Amino acid sequence: MAATKEQVLERLGEIRAPDGRPLPATGVLSDVVVSDGKVFFSLTVDAAAVPAWEPVRKAAEAAVRGVPGVTSALVALTAERAGGAGRGSPIGRTSPAAAARAQHQAGPRPAQAPEGVKAIIAVASGKGGVGKSTTAVNLALGLRALGLKIGVLDADIYGPSVPKLLAIRGKPQTVGGTRLKPMSGYGLSVMSIGFLIEEETPMIWRGPMVMSALTQMLREVEWGELDVMVVDMPPGTGDAQLTMAQQVPLAGAVIVSTPQDLALIDARRGIAMFRRVNVPVLGIVENMSTFICPHCGGRSDIFGHGGARQEAERLGVPFLGEVPLDLAIRETSDAGRPVVATDPDGPHAAIFRRIAERVRDQLGGGPVRPAPKIVIEA
Ligand SMILES: Nc1ncnc2c1ncn2[C@@H]1O[C@H](COP(=O)(O)OP(=O)(O)O)[C@@H](O)[C@H]1O
Ligand SMILES: [Mg+2]
Repeated sequence: MAATKEQVLERLGEIRAPDGRPLPATGVLSDVVVSDGKVFFSLTVDAAAVPAWEPVRKAAEAAVRGVPGVTSALVALTAERAGGAGRGSPIGRTSPAAAARAQHQAGPRPAQAPEGVKAIIAVASGKGGVGKSTTAVNLALGLRALGLKIGVLDADIYGPSVPKLLAIRGKPQTVGGTRLKPMSGYGLSVMSIGFLIEEETPMIWRGPMVMSALTQMLREVEWGELDVMVVDMPPGTGDAQLTMAQQVPLAGAVIVSTPQDLALIDARRGIAMFRRVNVPVLGIVENMSTFICPHCGGRSDIFGHGGARQEAERLGVPFLGEVPLDLAIRETSDAGRPVVATDPDGPHAAIFRRIAERVRDQLGGGPVRPAPKIVIEA
């Protein structure tokens, strides 16, 4: 028998908050999601009260695991920030290094990177369908080709597509009952919100729920040693994205845009959003740039061309490269055979590797060692 939300709430009534009140009466509880025996919710408390609440979080998790029919429970403690992030970051020519210093001066970020993870970068876009996930995956593979150890965290709650792009099937294994082992694909360590939630239910993952999933994917996964973790962010520049950008200790953000004016306006919003929370913008990628006809070899600029480069210049952020609109990219991407891994000597792989090099340089370089060979099944 599957557990119900009512049963879970009833059990939570036995848990006491630090002030002695039953947990459901305190107002810190998010919506409780019960799906297929898995229970998720979060507790949003004052940052200063977090130490007092941690035992409550643990107790709530243990209690919920004891409800018949519950196979796993995840309770996240989310700290409500007292002031909000500084808005002082000037929109102008800020180098990533200067932005990083500004960030440092703004005080510690709310969250720490998981141990062993050297840098976390977000791949973001103003809107969906611009090739954000395709770019994230191929950028990750490009970084790996530079000899770096790379993880991919798919945080796109609206359409987690990394499992498909990397042809990863199945569920992650647990280690020691609570922690998850990342999946692996093409030499990348991967965790996706798609592994944790059913496809039909993502829309309930709003607000604090999103945060608890993200917290779980960051902290309750055995990431091990990573040089860079690439996060495929949800599209858009709304509150959900802003909260995420604040919760994850980001070393920088890569903005993906198509060349049209409308997409560029969204990209601009994205850049402004990251600057507001003092995350350095590592640069812009123009995706679906020039189309080269596979039949005649002629070039046409379906969505225009070069808009992102000009925009980058105007906003004083690095331009990372342009990826052509090409059937081969769409086909390999959608078939789970990302072009950087499956056609490493081709022209597209070279483009993504160049983008990866620029991103690495923006992050302050790093040891270059040859990537171990991976075997790709045809
Ligand atoms: N440069 C490109 N050329 C051709 N098709 C592309 C390119 N980039 C992405 N696509 C295709 O466009 C669609 C949307 O890409 P996706 O990466 O899922 O976008 P997003 O994550 O922004 O929603 C996919 O079918 C993908 O294969
Ligand atoms: Mg996507």
